[in-house]
Amino acid sequence: MSTIIEPFRIKMTEPLKIISKDERIEALKRAYNNVFLLDAEDCCIDLLTDSGTGAMSTQQWAALMLGDESYAGSKSWKKFESVVKQITGIKHIFPVHQGRAAESILAQTIVNKGDVIPNNSHFDTTRANMEYAGAHAIDLLCDKGLNTTLEAPFKGDMDIENLKKCIADNSVEKIPFCMITVTNNTGGGQPVSMNNIREIKGVLKKYGIPLVIDACRFAENAYFIKKHEQGYQDLSLLEIAQEMFSYADAATMSCKKDGLANIGGFLICNNDQWAEKFRNMLILREGFPTYGGLAGRDLEVIAVGLMEALEYDYQVYRHATVEYLGRSLIDKGVPIVRPIGGHAVFLDAKQFLPNIPPIQYPGIGLVNALYLEGGVRSVELGTVMFGRFDEQGNELPSPLELVRLAIPRRVYTQSHFDYLIETIDAVWEKKDSIPGYKITYQPSFLRHFTCQLEALE
Ligand code: F0G
Repeated sequence: MSTIIEPFRIKMTEPLKIISKDERIEALKRAYNNVFLLDAEDCCIDLLTDSGTGAMSTQQWAALMLGDESYAGSKSWKKFESVVKQITGIKHIFPVHQGRAAESILAQTIVNKGDVIPNNSHFDTTRANMEYAGAHAIDLLCDKGLNTTLEAPFKGDMDIENLKKCIADNSVEKIPFCMITVTNNTGGGQPVSMNNIREIKGVLKKYGIPLVIDACRFAENAYFIKKHEQGYQDLSLLEIAQEMFSYADAATMSCKKDGLANIGGFLICNNDQWAEKFRNMLILREGFPTYGGLAGRDLEVIAVGLMEALEYDYQVYRHATVEYLGRSLIDKGVPIVRPIGGHAVFLDAKQFLPNIPPIQYPGIGLVNALYLEGGVRSVELGTVMFGRFDEQGNELPSPLELVRLAIPRRVYTQSHFDYLIETIDAVWEKKDSIPGYKITYQPSFLRHFTCQLEALE
């Protein structure tokens, strides 16, 4: 059979209601035109994030009941540690409540003021944590990664020449580590090749700079490597993941993505001195090192989820759903980032709404139009999210203006996708009537979460 089916059947359901268009207009007004401030029950298809929004399997629910809630050295911790070690081969393992807790501990213990942290593209919380510690977070994405129409297999790769230049331009002591984000969320969910990870490691090794993998979507990245990179077709996703981590000195992980869990994460490293610092900060911020901000039942769920994310049939289905959405949009002429990413389809708001200048936030225009049209919640990854200013305080446009439709794992069926495609198509038909926006209130960090906006006439 050529039809790819969900490798599961549904045992429990959650009601979903669609509120009327008038109610959506009122809801968006109450949310100051910022979809982060909407009530979730006012959203029909919620694609705000693929983080912590997935459905757990029967195995995970069963494992949850085995949670050992002992404060120290629980059985659940042992299982968690053993699975993370099996996948990563890394020595010291610290559970944390989610990815940004790992980033924060890393930044607070290792980063000094004036340091430089290279990455292919920093995710917003990663950037904020590095900058909060006084560092410059630098994105060294390869040129093809910025071209949203180019069909190329590994557009999440880091530019190796720019990495060398970055090291040459800054003294090595100013670069406490280099990061690589797999897959590259902010650059369109594009994967990073094994070859690139190996090359990065090769460059860093010469200078003794550690490599830290932001591993949130490591299993989806492993699937792309198996599919598109020569020499990996016959390896299992676990073997591919093991090779990826073999180049890393440390990693931050949000198990809300490829841990198939609703909460959780970890910070891991090989270096004993780093581990000592992480442990002390973990106790201060998260909890005792064998639970680190998680319940024993969460550790159980993650131990099962990490291995399920590496199941080949699961990844085939996962990628097929994202492809289905992406292909349907391409067929209708809707501009999306090519090729289709791992966890999301990214609409190109710059091409979708060419008449709205970046400083009037075309991404927000599109996000709000999708909500008003069908109750679909998406997220802007553009000038509002990356909010950067020059020394005079003038706002700088983001190089990419994207709207992300992030697909929760194992949650929506094909008819949900068909409804979504119909909604996007309807917005595409009326694109000329979509307004730009201005910000009327913003906080000083991570402004997209809480800023308030007003439509321009
Ligand atoms: N790194 C990447 C690449 C991420 O995508 C995220 C989260 C984090 C780090 C932080 O993890 O949320 O567990 O603290 N991304 C979510 C998203 C929020 O919607 O893309 P966290």
